[in-house]
Amino acid sequence: MNEKIRNALNGQINAELYSSYLYLSMASYFKRLSYDGFARWMEVQALEELTHAMKFFNFVNERGGKVDLKAIEGPQTSWDSPLRAFEAVYDHEVKVTGLIYDLVNIATEEKDHATSNFLQWFITEQVEEETSADNIVQKLKLVGSEGGGLYMLDQELAQRVFTPLPGTTILAGAGTGGA
Ligand code: FEO
Repeated sequence: MNEKIRNALNGQINAELYSSYLYLSMASYFKRLSYDGFARWMEVQALEELTHAMKFFNFVNERGGKVDLKAIEGPQTSWDSPLRAFEAVYDHEVKVTGLIYDLVNIATEEKDHATSNFLQWFITEQVEEETSADNIVQKLKLVGSEGGGLYMLDQELAQRVFTPLPGTTILAGAGTGGA
């Protein structure tokens, strides 16, 4: 892979790891407030982001590229309310979608069809990520500061489980159950 593509993919490894950091920080924020369900959702989200980082990591390695792991910025540690935290998730995912689109544009310019093809999965994934964050934002707006509603929503989000992506592993070559 050429240097421009390699640098861009390495930048995305960092962005995905930062996303994982951000959602772990939000998990801690929710745990401090005893919203264990919201915290659970964030922990699963953090694991998914780690999976995303590993997809890029594995792709760069498989194509013979050098991975450069850069410093990961420390994320914010508290938010004004659950609504503000989930609005921040939505905003962050919109930003990540922009990063993925930038990568697709670079791959197209460089006529790197393998990278373009690899990125298609992320285009679809970002639609889901934005939709699920927005869905929770809308529910939080509906319940407002009403304790019963927040409790119910916390219970609902506690059900989230981490499902390893088919064909995607944290460990390269470890099979689909390796995450
Ligand atoms: Fe890896 Fe939430 O985008």
